[in-house]
Amino acid sequence: MDGYAHEVQFERLRRPYQLTTRELVEVLDNLGRLPPDIDPTPLLELVEYPDEQVRFYAVKNLAKLRRTDLLPFFFERGRNEPSTLVRREYVSAIGRLRVPDVIPFLLVFLDDPDPKIVVQAIRGLLYFRDYPDVQSRLRSLCGHPSELVRRAVEPLLKTEKTAQRRSNHVQSPEWLHNKIVNADVLEVLKHVPDESVHLTFTSPPYYNARDYTIYQSYQGYLQFLATVFKEVHRITKEGRFFVLNTSPILIPRMSRQHASTRYLIPFDIHPLITEIGFDFIDDIIWVKPEPSAKNRNGGFFQHRKPLGYKTNSVVEYVIVYRKHTDKLIDWNMRQYDEETVEASRVSGDYEKTNLWRIAPSADPVHPAVFPVELAARIIQLYSYRGDLVFDPFAGRGTVGIAALQLGRYFFLTEKHPAYANYARQLLSEGSLFCDKPVELLTLEEFIQLKQQRGEQ
Ligand SMILES: C[S@@+](CC[C@H](N)C(=O)[O-])C[C@H]1O[C@@H](n2cnc3c(N)ncnc32)[C@H](O)[C@@H]1O
Repeated sequence: MDGYAHEVQFERLRRPYQLTTRELVEVLDNLGRLPPDIDPTPLLELVEYPDEQVRFYAVKNLAKLRRTDLLPFFFERGRNEPSTLVRREYVSAIGRLRVPDVIPFLLVFLDDPDPKIVVQAIRGLLYFRDYPDVQSRLRSLCGHPSELVRRAVEPLLKTEKTAQRRSNHVQSPEWLHNKIVNADVLEVLKHVPDESVHLTFTSPPYYNARDYTIYQSYQGYLQFLATVFKEVHRITKEGRFFVLNTSPILIPRMSRQHASTRYLIPFDIHPLITEIGFDFIDDIIWVKPEPSAKNRNGGFFQHRKPLGYKTNSVVEYVIVYRKHTDKLIDWNMRQYDEETVEASRVSGDYEKTNLWRIAPSADPVHPAVFPVELAARIIQLYSYRGDLVFDPFAGRGTVGIAALQLGRYFFLTEKHPAYANYARQLLSEGSLFCDKPVELLTLEEFIQLKQQRGEQ
């Protein structure tokens, strides 16, 4: 409708007695946008009209003017209007003003006995959801007897929950950041809260293949690992990863009269891990250059008799698990803000197959370390910047070294004092630009630290 036609129609409202109710409704319904400086008198008079539809459209058109001076008028009429349809339109008119002055008026309508009026007031108030008094009043309605009202406040609660979940998922207990605890992992984990870490990458003791740990039996060893991994599951955040590096081991024969024993650790531990509640995600084979393998086929090389063949093992297994959840991985990714996602993006070339060729590492102090490159790949691919990465069997702290390089925090436990001290030394060197100092703690100091931070 052009400006002129529009004025003609509006003029007709000045003589409502000349129109039938139907004509009045039609004119009011087709007024379209109104100039803000228009004289509202005809509309103000029509709110007294006997027909509910006419009153409804009169209020609707008044609302379009967005005149804050009409606020007390809307409020008074809204309170006394007998028709729910029209009353709702008054409350809507108040909400459409979108100025903080409307808040006390809309709050009054939250006590209305008619749920439709309450819902309309909620819609207006959601615009001011950041005002603490509005927020707490709206939140109090989530126990309202009307399902319409409860549903109307849901968006508010949903954003709150999402924001809370988001920050819960991304954040980790700050008092764990960059700590090495020199103690038995199971003792330490008793004091670590549920859902604290984003990623665990570890290489456990290789049964009795090295003398830093001795287990009574292979079954006892697997049970010990399962107990640790159960705790790892508890402290892992929803849907996050646990990556385990193991390989078959050989317990050498005691004499030429005895046979040596091989244990296929990754396969034996796998069912225990899935039982705990981790889903199997990927099997990465870490391949080392041939010269780094222990030579096991010297005898066969000489005698060449079938059955006596043995391989030189150049592989280890890196099995990727995810803490079971019904949520897709996209949900985990969505918890991070754009800045963190950008900063964590894996740029450049990366290994597309599950065959990772990485040279092994040797260390002057620790007899069984994995290379920083292996830890770095895992951390880069399965965590975001600022995440907390855990290694229960830390050794010299390779996981910590890689975590620092990649802008993640680490939390490590290592039982052997010499290795824990060595890890502290290496990690302190690598933490020059880190906002959290590296600290080595005894179990007692760790428990004390937790109490100081007010954790239960
Ligand atoms: C295979 S090494 C890990 C080496 C490590 N990935 C690195 O690169 O330095 C296993 C480590 O677990 C430690 N360990 C064994 N039992 C432990 C326990 N119950 N609690 C904490 N650490 C333990 C051993 O002392 C050893 O240093």
